[in-house]
Amino acid sequence: MNRTKKKGFLYVDLSKPMTYGDQFKLMFIIMFIFCALFTLIYLFTLIGGRGKADTPSSAEVSGTETSHAASHQEENSPVASEVSVVSEINSGIFDDVEKLSLGHDEIYKGDLILVNKNYKCPSDGEDAVSLMEQKTGSYAVTDYDVSLNKDIIVYLNQMLDDFEDVQGENDVMVACGYRSYDNQSEIFDNEVEEVGVEEAEQWVARPGYSEHQTGLVIDFTLNNDVEQGSIKYDGTGIYEWINTNSYKYGFILRYPYGKEEITGYNYESWHFRYVGLPAAFYITQNGITLEEYIDVVRTHDINSPLLIDGGGENKWYVYYVTANEDSKTEVTVPKNSNYKISGDNVQGFIVTADVDIKG
Ligand code: DAL
Ligand code: ZN
Repeated sequence: MNRTKKKGFLYVDLSKPMTYGDQFKLMFIIMFIFCALFTLIYLFTLIGGRGKADTPSSAEVSGTETSHAASHQEENSPVASEVSVVSEINSGIFDDVEKLSLGHDEIYKGDLILVNKNYKCPSDGEDAVSLMEQKTGSYAVTDYDVSLNKDIIVYLNQMLDDFEDVQGENDVMVACGYRSYDNQSEIFDNEVEEVGVEEAEQWVARPGYSEHQTGLVIDFTLNNDVEQGSIKYDGTGIYEWINTNSYKYGFILRYPYGKEEITGYNYESWHFRYVGLPAAFYITQNGITLEEYIDVVRTHDINSPLLIDGGGENKWYVYYVTANEDSKTEVTVPKNSNYKISGDNVQGFIVTADVDIKG
């Protein structure tokens, strides 16, 4: 029996001249292939974009810089795509965000303000209170004139209470906290008279440029040295505990050995600056200075924040927002996590937010 093979709808016999019907079929095939290809490419792009927005694993980052999130923004032209890209990326970092509007003056406030030979202190004791009245019994203070920023005394008390619990009886004493402009002027002039201006500048800040003026700084001494009028606290022996553990309470050794070129001052084993957590943790663990920490943070915006992993549930995102000079600055912050904002005393804001550990 002769069977005629049934031709499919799309069959075209290319050995014969094409009819109008054949041409229509060919057009249909080409358009179908084109549409299928286009759909595939679109799907791949979608999947790729999601991958980039994922939160990094702690293994990627612990104590170091993250580089996750989104080259997506750079690939697209800004403006039109910006809004949707930001919300897509944010969904991997914070559940929800809101915008604050901050005036330029706010860059001069906060625990992370940088005061050194280049950046003068923007305040003069507005938040300082006498330490004697608020200290615990685990340490001494030279006199009632020693004052500190009212919000950091609780951390100093905790640190020195724990120190006493661990090391027992000791002679630690707070010799100096907030110093006024005039007081610093006197100290600087005396030092210059004693050792000359070049040497004096290695140890004492010029008036207006001392971070003691912030009220966020403590100089320790030892109770038994007071009569000699000198600071003999060198952070050794039982006192090494303080120099090793201070970061847990938010304090850093501000002028470390080997960092003189960056800080502008010689090693001072007794001078501690409050910067809070996680800055103190990151600075100490990485052996860097406040100057270097701020430099690191400046390279991170909300789309690629620095993840600081302090172990367990102690994880923070840190990012930088450059301030507008002549208008308010919109600072995006998480809506459902704790955060704090500090100015850097130079050009912007540092946002530090808790990373919510999702169960
Ligand atoms: N000793 C530090 C640098 C100060 O005078 O502030
Ligand atoms: Zn000091």
